[in-house]
Amino acid sequence: MGTTAVTVVMVMLCGIMVHADVKPQKDFNLQRFAGKWYRVGLAYDSPRFLPYRDMLRASMGIITPLPNGNVNLTMWDATTLSCQTKLYQYEKTNVSGQFIYFSTTHNMIKDITVVETNYTDYALVLKHKEFNREYTQVALYGRTLKVRNYVIQKFKDFAVSQGLSRESILTPPPAENCPPAESEC
Ligand SMILES: *[C@@H]1O[C@H](CO)[C@@H](O)[C@H](O)[C@H]1NC(C)=O
Ligand SMILES: *[C@@H]1O[C@H](CO)[C@@H](O)[C@H](O)[C@H]1NC(C)=O
Ligand SMILES: *[C@@H]1O[C@H](CO)[C@@H](O)[C@H](O)[C@H]1NC(C)=O
Repeated sequence: MGTTAVTVVMVMLCGIMVHADVKPQKDFNLQRFAGKWYRVGLAYDSPRFLPYRDMLRASMGIITPLPNGNVNLTMWDATTLSCQTKLYQYEKTNVSGQFIYFSTTHNMIKDITVVETNYTDYALVLKHKEFNREYTQVALYGRTLKVRNYVIQKFKDFAVSQGLSRESILTPPPAENCPPAESEC
């Protein structure tokens, strides 16, 4: 019993401190990161997300670097009824590859770290609120809808290392006609 309690405490501590040593992609290059991506994987443990899990689709997004180093991200979000675009504005920080943004959903500032990318194929992105696991997300972006298996494995391992449960890891099917075919760039 005693051992279990100690284990639980250690797991909790690790859960809290786990982000501290996540470094962004070395020599992060925003210009090379620009353009079209698909969110082909998402790990998200929030109970509030549970009802939406099965509806998740691999949405498309476009990263537009701004001259001051900030970023506009346009995401196409397929809901059961429509295809909506959402604009996110990421503000640069002093650390290249790290951004902050104001989440209107959660009404708080969150950190975004581009943990690893090779620009041409995939990007592993951590979105989190320090000290609060409920708001932590790990996303896998691909330049196309299909990424290599070892990249998916890398994404899953990283999500688990950030304290997300295996059950929370999704690799959703593509969005159908969202954005509508004629407007796809
Ligand atoms: C970025 O988003 C802001 C806010 O919607 C908009 O005013 C601005 O024109 C956008 N910039 C680019 C380059 O898309
Ligand atoms: C970022 O760097 C500038 C200039 O070195 C400094 O004045 C500012 O306090 C730093 N901001 C943060 C959040 O570290
Ligand atoms: C990026 O990753 C893909 C898939 O793992 C690989 O085929 C490609 O060569 C990599 N590109 C670079 C520039 O490292």
